[in-house]
Amino acid sequence: MRSLSGIQPSGALHIGNYFGAIKQYVDMQDRHEGYYFIANYHAMTSLRDREALRANCLDLATDFLALGLDPGKSVLFLQSDVPEVTELTWLLSTVTPMGLLERCHAYKEKTAEGLPADHGLFAYPVLMAADILIYNSDVVPVGQDQKQHVEVTRDIAEKLNNTYGELLKLPAPLILDTTAVVPGVDGRKMSKSYGNAIMIFEEPKDIKAKVMRIKTDSTPVEDPKDPEQCSVFALYRLFATDEQREAMAERYRKGGVGYGEAKKELVPLMADYFAAAREKRAALAASPDTVLDILREGGRKARAEAQATLARVRDAMGCL
Ligand code: ADP
Ligand code: TRP
Repeated sequence: MRSLSGIQPSGALHIGNYFGAIKQYVDMQDRHEGYYFIANYHAMTSLRDREALRANCLDLATDFLALGLDPGKSVLFLQSDVPEVTELTWLLSTVTPMGLLERCHAYKEKTAEGLPADHGLFAYPVLMAADILIYNSDVVPVGQDQKQHVEVTRDIAEKLNNTYGELLKLPAPLILDTTAVVPGVDGRKMSKSYGNAIMIFEEPKDIKAKVMRIKTDSTPVEDPKDPEQCSVFALYRLFATDEQREAMAERYRKGGVGYGEAKKELVPLMADYFAAAREKRAALAASPDTVLDILREGGRKARAEAQATLARVRDAMGCL
């Protein structure tokens, strides 16, 4: 069973990205053949600074590896190391109805946020379809916001298969566990665009300052509190053992624990949780060539697979 997903190199990873995506990719490694890539072609629809894009790609690869993505088990690569994907994008475009793309929410949202209405942004789902189909992926683990794009991918693949014969495997979306959306310091969903995110690898003193700023209600220390309504507890539970979580929930319900105290206990748990990854990250960051070598090796493997799919499709569509 092959699992494939891409993540855009759009800045430092936060705790929501970790629990909502990266941790799940890492956990899947033993059960699935993982193909995980850095979607730098997609990022070009919104980031137009050469140095920033290059730095983000290297940082993201370093983060992935530090957080446990194992190149011995999964293929980690850069989207642009497989240029075949852009050729398949064109071939797929020839059977993609405009209406299908016009219905995509992401395009409407991004242009409403002020991104220029460029063709690349509009055709973004076709590139994503090519990403998925070129590696014969079985499942695509994504957040809820990307589900529509996986459905579009299936529609495009069906259209091509109906026109030219059974060429492409239809993938299934695997919606990541978003029952526990990680809250940010203001209580809304943690997101880099809301400025409320705690980054995985930021300085421990900055993490502490952010935790101490998490918004809570004004229930007095001695009163009972509902742990399920509290952002501090929502974060605490991610880092705590089962016993620690239950003990803290009990203290909330009984009263006597203040939010400040809960925050102070959360800080070291967070630091311990990522301590090994932080060390690994520092070692990898000191040796960017090692990270690049891993990406290039992943790219070679992915490319061989992509070339086989592309050859099949080109031939079926009438390339001489
Ligand atoms: P952001 O909202 O910060 O821009 P992205 O949209 O780039 O994050 O998300 C990358 C991945 O991380 C997606 O799979 C998404 O579902 C997951 N993710 C992002 N924020 C959260 C969150 N607060 N809780 C859980 N998962 C999240
Ligand atoms: N569009 C996805 C996002 O913004 C990233 C992505 C690109 C992707 N290609 C993909 C995800 C293929 C899954 C499969 O998050």
